[in-house]
Amino acid sequence: MSIGIIGAGALGSNVALLLAKNGISATIANSRGPESLAGLVEELGPSIKAGTVEAAASADIVVVALRWTDLEKALAGLPTWNGRIVIDGTNAVEFLDPDSPDAKDPNNPLAAYGIKAIDLGGKHSSEVFRKFVPGAHIVKAFNHLDVNVLGDPAASGAQRVLFYSGDDAGAKAEVRKLLEQTGYFPVDLGVLDVGGPLASLPFGALAAINFVRI
Ligand SMILES: NC(=O)c1ccc[n+]([C@@H]2O[C@H](COP(=O)([O-])OP(=O)(O)OC[C@H]3O[C@@H](n4cnc5c(N)ncnc54)[C@H](OP(=O)(O)O)[C@@H]3O)[C@@H](O)[C@H]2O)c1
Repeated sequence: MSIGIIGAGALGSNVALLLAKNGISATIANSRGPESLAGLVEELGPSIKAGTVEAAASADIVVVALRWTDLEKALAGLPTWNGRIVIDGTNAVEFLDPDSPDAKDPNNPLAAYGIKAIDLGGKHSSEVFRKFVPGAHIVKAFNHLDVNVLGDPAASGAQRVLFYSGDDAGAKAEVRKLLEQTGYFPVDLGVLDVGGPLASLPFGALAAINFVRI
């Protein structure tokens, strides 16, 4: 299965690092074009190629590693998803400019982390994310760990747990296989309506906690 990564920042580059460490091929894209990723792909080695967003989006498995506020623009106008697998690595948070009033808002419990929860009108993020990738089989994964540990599935002499959820059994089986290849211990949290909110930042009960399989 071919793999594309849309977004090459903190999350996208660390997903690429994880794949590269395991010799798994992928095409990674950002907003500024493949040339701007020359340094990153050189560092990661030959399994990771830089490409356009369209190239990354045409893979069998596409990891979306974009900020929530960029989703609509970045994913508009791409070829139809047609049952392909999209791994949703996003969280519905806004990254705050440290000088903005929001960053100092005493009513924002996340201000100290430089983020703010985005109001989705009572929906959970996977419910809203669906509209950005119509026809795709969505699997939520890679969104709940600190990116600084993402490239390192071995922890404390054990295997780090990576949660995933989704509505399509076939898509989940493929993602599970991929996660196993990278050294993670994948744990299926069920359908998106259940697993999505459980493992999503900022308020999911299983988010940002490191579980290991001993
Ligand atoms: N940071 C974490 O610890 C962490 C952990 C888990 C999940 N997440 C989630 O992962 C997502 C990404 O966060 P991040 O921290 O990786 O953000 P980031 O470092 O700002 O990276 C965002 C990436 O998206 C690209 N991008 C923006 N607009 C685009 C467009 N129109 N077309 C193509 N690419 C575009 C940017 O490309 P350019 O640089 O060229 O603009 C950049 O490579 C968020 O939803 C976040 O909540 C983050």
